[in-house]
Amino acid sequence: MPTFNEVENAERLIHRLARALDGLEYEILFVDDNSPDGTAAAVREIGGRDARVRCLQRIGRRGLATAVIEGMLATTAPVVAVIDGDLQHDERLLPEMYRQLTEDGLDLVVGSRYVAGGGVGDWSEARQRGSKLATRIAGRMAGTELADPMSGFFMLRTDALRDRAAGLSGVGYKLLLDILATPGPALKLREVPYEFKAREHGDSKLDNKVLLEFLELILAKSVGRYVPVKFIMFSLVGALGVVVHMIVLATLFRSFGVGFGISQTVATLVAMTANFFINNVFTYFDRRLRGWKLVPGWLSFCAASSVGALANVGVAVFLFESFGTIWYASALAGVIVGATWNYAVTALYTWKI
Ligand code: GDD
Ligand code: MN
Repeated sequence: MPTFNEVENAERLIHRLARALDGLEYEILFVDDNSPDGTAAAVREIGGRDARVRCLQRIGRRGLATAVIEGMLATTAPVVAVIDGDLQHDERLLPEMYRQLTEDGLDLVVGSRYVAGGGVGDWSEARQRGSKLATRIAGRMAGTELADPMSGFFMLRTDALRDRAAGLSGVGYKLLLDILATPGPALKLREVPYEFKAREHGDSKLDNKVLLEFLELILAKSVGRYVPVKFIMFSLVGALGVVVHMIVLATLFRSFGVGFGISQTVATLVAMTANFFINNVFTYFDRRLRGWKLVPGWLSFCAASSVGALANVGVAVFLFESFGTIWYASALAGVIVGATWNYAVTALYTWKI
């Protein structure tokens, strides 16, 4: 059970699970990303009285998918279920999921909102439409027939998970999709309907970043096998930076008659700064720098980019003048070397990956 600020829900869910799982042997493992509201401490308090309740507390880490992966790998049980810690999933379904999994020899049973008998409760029209669209894209991508490949409520055999664990991307929160899209022995699976309940306490953590995380997961599962996803996003921003550069340069030099050297310098500074901020909200949406941390971030980004620009020019001129490489190939080689340098250095020093 992944949790972030669920102190009001955790204890309730433990009680509900005890009722639902009565007669089965189980343990409840919370994976808490050091929630400021003290979820982990509350869970440990209960764990002190009931050894079946455990807490894996992660420090300095965030992420629903990685939390769930680490939690699933931390149990010795042959079967593991993933359920949100906010009472939105229907825990009363677990014994039936377990029965089907074991008696029918399945590897994976998915709690589904989109098969007959399931539902999404009181979601807004917009969220329903967004979810349907994403579900269709996701289904295509994972090559799955599942009606609800984005479900966060499912049960599987831990050995089937371990078969795939090394191939999981861990990006974002669509872990089921990640599992389905990762190569491995075929999974025998089934969907069972459930009604997604309204949240009673606390807030959803996924609303702002869902789209970017989804985009990143799709890239990770396609081109991500060959090139790091963040590098692709970084390069897209870089391409945009060239456009910004040209607009500023043209405006100053052509329209206002400013000297070329000054125009080019200002255009470079503007483009670098724009790239820094766009990368900060787009490429690194999941580790965005805020407040005063923007200052060292911007400085290190500009420093890295300046060296990258020198390397770019150096490589291009060297190829062009010493080897007679055709001009656009020389330029492209320079751009690739510069971009790779910028990406690697800013990942390390600006966003501290
Ligand atoms: N450890 C950890 N770290 N837990 C997290 C994090 C995190 O960074 N972010 C969210 N959680 C926990 C929440 O505390 C909650 O228990 C659960 O993960 C789901 O988060 P919500 O913020 O409530 O997500 P949601 O309700 O919008 O979406 C959920 O349901 C959908 C439908 O099944 C998720 O499970 C989605 O993946 C799922 O598609
Ligand atoms: Mn929720």
